[in-house]
Amino acid sequence: MRNVKALAEQAPLIAPSILAANKEKMNEEIALAEASGASFLHIDIMDGRFVPALTWGPRFVASISNIHTLVNDVHIMVEEPWTQGPLFAHAGADIVTFHLEACPDQESVLKTISAIHNAGAEVGISIKPNTPVEALNPYFDLVDLILIMSVEPGKGGQKFMDSSLKKIAYCRKKINGMPLAKRPLIEVDGGINAETGKAVREAGVDVLVAGSYLFGHEDFQKRLEALKE
Ligand code: DX5
Ligand code: ZN
Repeated sequence: MRNVKALAEQAPLIAPSILAANKEKMNEEIALAEASGASFLHIDIMDGRFVPALTWGPRFVASISNIHTLVNDVHIMVEEPWTQGPLFAHAGADIVTFHLEACPDQESVLKTISAIHNAGAEVGISIKPNTPVEALNPYFDLVDLILIMSVEPGKGGQKFMDSSLKKIAYCRKKINGMPLAKRPLIEVDGGINAETGKAVREAGVDVLVAGSYLFGHEDFQKRLEALKE
């Protein structure tokens, strides 16, 4: 298991989202992300139930998890994350991030966290734009990453929602009060570009997911660097 929390020192970390990559040349797209200075590879899993769209399963994750050295950052937008999460951990995810909203009660949140940890991956917990950030309070100490969604999960290319900035700042404050080794990373996902990237960094984010801003553009590397500036 990689210790992703230790990467906080190198923040801002960039996580290109392969949802926006050219599927016909996925290996090249991943190589481009790696060569351009990314740290994470963000892989969006959708099950057609928690969100309407369907993407990949564990077999796909297994097929790409070893062709690069980036952190395999698997974002599962699926129901029953306590059963699904471990499948992705076994497929090579370094971190599996599930949705709080996919859990009917606190017991199933705790069950999901330990199932993913027991399967050998680190754990992230995510909230959608309409979920209050305080809902994360019981879990700061138990997870390795907090993912604040700045768009409604389900598709790429949407407009960044400013309401995420306050949530990020809230998490930053909470986390700064924790011992260094226990602090989860803070990640943001949705509508990130040079401008919104600056705003989320000021709010205190560690990891920036970016899909449509990076993939499909000639100047991928320049854009990625702009997210770090
Ligand atoms: C949305 C996904 C995102 C998506 C982001 O449900 O979780 O990771 O790829 O795409 P952009 O960066 O285009 O908003
Ligand atoms: Zn995502």
